Amino acid sequence: MDSEHVTSTPEDRSHFKELLAIGLIASVIGVALGLVIDWFPTQASEEGERIDTLWDILIICSVPVFVLVIVVVLYCVWRFRMKPGQEEEDGPPIHGNTKLEIVWTAIPAIILVALCSYSYVVLTDIEKAEADALEVRVVGEQFTWTFLYEDASGKEFGSPQLYVPRGRQVNFTVESKDVIHDFWVPAFRLKIDAVRGVQTHLRITPKTIGQYPVVCAELCGLGHAVMRQTAHVVEPEEFDRWVQERGQQASGGEEGGQEGDEAGGDAAAPDGKAIFTETGCGGCHALSDAATTGGTGPNLDETLADKDAAFIEESVVEPDAEIAEGFDAGLMPKAYGDQLTPPELDALVKYLDEVTG
Ligand code: CUA
Repeated sequence: MDSEHVTSTPEDRSHFKELLAIGLIASVIGVALGLVIDWFPTQASEEGERIDTLWDILIICSVPVFVLVIVVVLYCVWRFRMKPGQEEEDGPPIHGNTKLEIVWTAIPAIILVALCSYSYVVLTDIEKAEADALEVRVVGEQFTWTFLYEDASGKEFGSPQLYVPRGRQVNFTVESKDVIHDFWVPAFRLKIDAVRGVQTHLRITPKTIGQYPVVCAELCGLGHAVMRQTAHVVEPEEFDRWVQERGQQASGGEEGGQEGDEAGGDAAAPDGKAIFTETGCGGCHALSDAATTGGTGPNLDETLADKDAAFIEESVVEPDAEIAEGFDAGLMPKAYGDQLTPPELDALVKYLDEVTG
């Protein structure tokens, strides 16, 4: 009884061929669908290219495994189900098949080792540091990101918008002021946790000019969903100009205009409404003039109606100084004094003062 040999009949062989044909056709359809579907947003980094290729190869290797298992299950249900009158019958006494077992253990093992090795190579490649990498510090807090750069004199300045030059590696040093956040630009494909008391790093080489969302990918509190800003991938010359102008503005220079004629006519006063929108204020605050409806923080039309510019400025820079009724201290980020340059802050305050009467 132990190893009674069961020979396959011509009928078995034709079943096997049928099963194999259905499995192959289904796999081809499955892989084609997997490759045709546009899984990800625009690809804006060089690392993204490698990661998307890795994804395609994982699809090619894993979809047939899934499809074959399902096909075998469904085929057996269809072909070998019990028919009336077979209730008392027993199947043939099969006790294992060493050859088959070696094959079905070896194939998955080989696939796994190959895919792990390939992923490892891709990861080490995209994490390689380049000598001329741009350093950007990213600070997360409830509920905003601040991006910190160094100007030509090595002085640090902040921005609520992420600007990066195309074609140059950026080394992000990521920190958190409070709970765990996660710095993620889906178009760049990579993300990393921001943890209080720890510095984490992420290297990305922006590839495609454009604007992409920066999001927080770790549930971090009431405003997690609105912890969204914008990453701008620009030409290197434009990036240098931006650093120069913003650096000057940040170090208190309206006299920045004297600096040179090259910067020239760009000295237009910042637009308060644009700053309100771009900084993401509307994510938490309702303000009818900007058509925002956020409810995490106070409604500005109401709470600022009888307030003067000095109060508004204090509320932006030091929000916990006076808290609107019904809201908790500590809810609004204290980063806006760092993120906004003095002219931007002036423009924002002036705008809020005007539209809230
Ligand atoms: Cu910060 Cu979620």
